[in-house]
Parts: sequence; structure tokens; C-alpha cells
Amino acid sequence: MKLADRIEQLPPYLFVEITKKINEKRAQGIDVVTFAIGDPDLPTPAHILDRLHTASDDPANHRYPESDGLPELRQAIADWYKSRFAVSLDRDKEVLPLIGAKEGIGHMALCLIDPGDVALVPDPAYPVYSIGTMFAGGETHWLPLKEANGWLPDLDSIPEAVARKAKVIWVNYPNNPTGAVADITFFDKLVAFAKRYDIAICHDAPYTEIAYDGYRPVSLLQAQGAMDVGIEFHSLSKSYNMTGWRVAMAVGNPGLINALMRVKSNLDSGIPQAIQLMAIQALEDSQQCVKDNVEVYQRRRDKLVDALTKIGMEVVPPQASLYVWARIPQGYTSAEYAAKLIEEAAVVVTPGSGYGQHGEGYVRLSLTLPDDQLNEGARRIAQLAS
Ligand SMILES: Cc1ncc(COP(=O)(O)O)c(C=O)c1O
Repeated sequence: MKLADRIEQLPPYLFVEITKKINEKRAQGIDVVTFAIGDPDLPTPAHILDRLHTASDDPANHRYPESDGLPELRQAIADWYKSRFAVSLDRDKEVLPLIGAKEGIGHMALCLIDPGDVALVPDPAYPVYSIGTMFAGGETHWLPLKEANGWLPDLDSIPEAVARKAKVIWVNYPNNPTGAVADITFFDKLVAFAKRYDIAICHDAPYTEIAYDGYRPVSLLQAQGAMDVGIEFHSLSKSYNMTGWRVAMAVGNPGLINALMRVKSNLDSGIPQAIQLMAIQALEDSQQCVKDNVEVYQRRRDKLVDALTKIGMEVVPPQASLYVWARIPQGYTSAEYAAKLIEEAAVVVTPGSGYGQHGEGYVRLSLTLPDDQLNEGARRIAQLAS
């Protein structure tokens, strides 16, 4: 049996290799501390789970959901965007619930990319932007992200011929893996660029609520004219510790939302309705649980940054996201340094090169592990210095 070329072209999924390594160590009886995956260790808040418990008893929620979600969920999303970002959305044309942002991002490529089309994708980045492009038969033009540029793409350096050919530009702030943030000036410039070349903007924004020291990340849709060219992916996964429930949303340009809805309605049957009701509860109820999460992550961030600085690594404390992005000492590749940490300290981090060649020289550490493990990991890292 010959599988499709797109399967042959797939790189190994980064975390499969890392999980293999962790399992090997644990099988040898070694107590491994892992900073690898950005999956909140904290449980889904009780008031959100309560809604699931009652909703699961109602037979109306046992049936196929609608692909475009409950109108009440689309309204809750629109209301949340209004109160959080002062952005007005039409719930019937500009909002689409998703089975996790990852699903929406993957399917979005099918809406924009024909074989041979170009997508502008940052490097380093969450891998789904380029994989979705490849699945749709398109080509990725990489936009290097550099520390000197605040990990923002340099739009002026994109060759004119490439910009003319491109169909979409992907961006993600607060950023995974670098923890960088973008302000409204950047998004204004991005909108002007997209309009000049008739390119769609896809902004992946699942970390806007995980921000520290009082910093409040902005939405792409706050930029002047963004609605004409842009779509934003947001998720309940990280804000409400709901990665396991799979619920997120796309909001923005009605043409892009409609295209995504048409793709999705042919491929999936929407979010289980009881989970949609959990999402409504999360968005409409008190947001204190999000503040509580942020407080935990901020404390962990400070502890980890301190430990890394002690062993001589250069770290800028992130203003947002769940990740600390640390420059590794000279003389190692990021994969070699990650291997050293696991061999010498039984600590797992993600090599920056796993997110693209411009991630080389860095490692990513996630803040989503219980405090006692984080403290133990920080202690082991700090001890490496001596
Ligand atoms: C940048 C980025 N986008 C999207 C996702 C996926 O989010 P969801 O759980 O909503 O699929 C993640 C998850 O880690 C992420 O880091």
C-alpha cells in the first residue's frame, strides 16, 4: 500500500520523540521532571465542570451538535470579545466555535491555499501553520523571528515577489515558543501589509489571557481595518485549564469565517453540546479563575527564571504565555543541551530547533507542571552550575 506523499513528508512530531525519551528514563526508575509540554496541570475550575455534570444528563445534549455551534455560545464569545477587547462581533457571521484552535488552524489552510500557493509562516513557530500549508499542497515561505527584533517578523524584508504570491500570513502573539508579545503598532503595520498585497492574516492567540505583571495583550481585531483581512484563533484550553475538553473559536472577517465553516461542516460535526455549555459557563461566569491561574504561573516563572539565570543562561522573563525561552550556553546545539539536561539532571526541556531553524540556540521550558515538581526541576537546574 502506498500512502499519500503528504504522509511521507511529515516530520516526526516533536513531542513523540520527547515522550519516548521520558518513558525510557522512567522505565530505568529515574524520577524525571518535565518542562516539555504546555498542558496546564491545574484542573478545570469546579463551576465549569458543574455545568458539564448537569448538561450531560440532558438527552438534548446526546445528539449531533451543529457544526457552527450553539447560537448561545457564539453570543457568549462575541460578548467576551466585547468586554475583553472592546471588539464588536456579529455572532452569526464573525464567530465560529472550534474543536480546539489546532483543528481550526489546520482546516484554515484548506480555505486559503491551493496547490503551489505560498503561506508566510514564522520560524520558530507552532508547527501546525506549515503542516496545514503542506497538507493543502502549498509552500511555506519562512519568516525568521529574531531576538534582536523582539521575535516579530520583519515585514519589510519579505521580497516583493514573495509578498505578491502569498495568500496568508500566520502570526502568534503572545508567542509560542518565545513568550514574545506584540503591541497594536505591530498589528496596524501587519494589516497595512496584508491590504497592500491582498493577503489574509491568521492570528493565533490562545495565550492572550496568560500575561504577567499586569500586562494585557491585545487582539489583532483591535487594529484599524483588521476585520477586512484578518481572522483570530482563540482558545479556552489555556485560560480555563480545558485542554482536554477541546473548545476554541475563530473570530473575524466574515468571508474567512464562512469559508472555515464550510470546510468544517464537511469534515466534522462540531463540539459536543455539553462541552459548548461548559464554554458558555467559562466565558460568562467570573474570570477570577483566570487571574488565579496567572498568579500561579507568575510565581513559577519567577522561580524558573531565577534558576536558569543562576547557571548562566540568558533569559528574558516572559510578559505572557506559558513558556520560558532561554538561550543556551555556547558550545552546544539546543538538542545537545536538552540531552545534557536529561542525562545530568533528569530534567526535560524542548529544544528550540524543534520549532524551526531560528529556534536553534534556545530551549523552551513550560510552566505547566505542579509546584513541587517545578521547584525540584529548578533545584536540579541550579545545581548543574556547581
Ligand atoms: C500557539 C498555539 N496555538 C494553538 C494551540 C492549540 O490550542 P488548542 O488546545 O485550542 O487546540 C497551542 C497549544 O499548545 C499553541 O501553543
